[in-house]
Amino acid sequence: MSRKRVAVLISGRGSNMAALIEAAEDKKYPAEIVVVISNRPDAGGLLIAQAAGIAAEIVDHAKFGTERAGFERAVQEVLEKHRIDLVCLAGFMRLLTAGFLEKWHLRILNIHPALLPAFKGLDTHRRALEAHAKIHGASVHFVVPEMDSGPVIAQSAIAVRSTDSEATLARRVLEIEHRIYPAALKLVAEGRVRVENGRCLIDGVPVPDVTDVAPTDPA
Ligand code: GRF
Repeated sequence: MSRKRVAVLISGRGSNMAALIEAAEDKKYPAEIVVVISNRPDAGGLLIAQAAGIAAEIVDHAKFGTERAGFERAVQEVLEKHRIDLVCLAGFMRLLTAGFLEKWHLRILNIHPALLPAFKGLDTHRRALEAHAKIHGASVHFVVPEMDSGPVIAQSAIAVRSTDSEATLARRVLEIEHRIYPAALKLVAEGRVRVENGRCLIDGVPVPDVTDVAPTDPA
């Protein structure tokens, strides 16, 4: 089976992007990272992508002012130029419109640093600490117009420690992000994920309970 052609959209340092690139370096991995697109010219992830020999393109949202349709058209052009099958958002800090997302229905994934549906939006680690959450983690989900709300493909949890700061929590969550994103993309690229009544079934069964999700070899 041919490997799925993937675009990764970033806005910043790109550590999740790097985890996807690393997983896809294995020729047996069912997806290849074909292009990295940043909406910010100064995103650190662009340099990582270039160093890995991957096409890195900038679609600067600032050049389009408040006109989101123009920005999205430009992104879509890059995706079409590279004949992209699947899109992975990885720290991409722009909301995408329903019109754009419709074109990529169940073909666009995002990683979120919390156990959805808890702590949607920004500052998840600070809010988890403030809420005295005992369990925190990360989720990979399909993207729908409502922010951080699409069907969850994979989650992994960590225990919050009484000594945790925002920084220590962020570091441990990031470690699991780097494992579950390649694992989730693999499942989608292999065609093993189906959505029924708003939830993902993997090989026909619901996503395992979060406590059962042991970090697995992504490849
Ligand atoms: C990650 O925590 C991701 O979950 C969130 O934004 C952060 C991006 O980090 N959506 P990086 O750019 O992948 O290092």
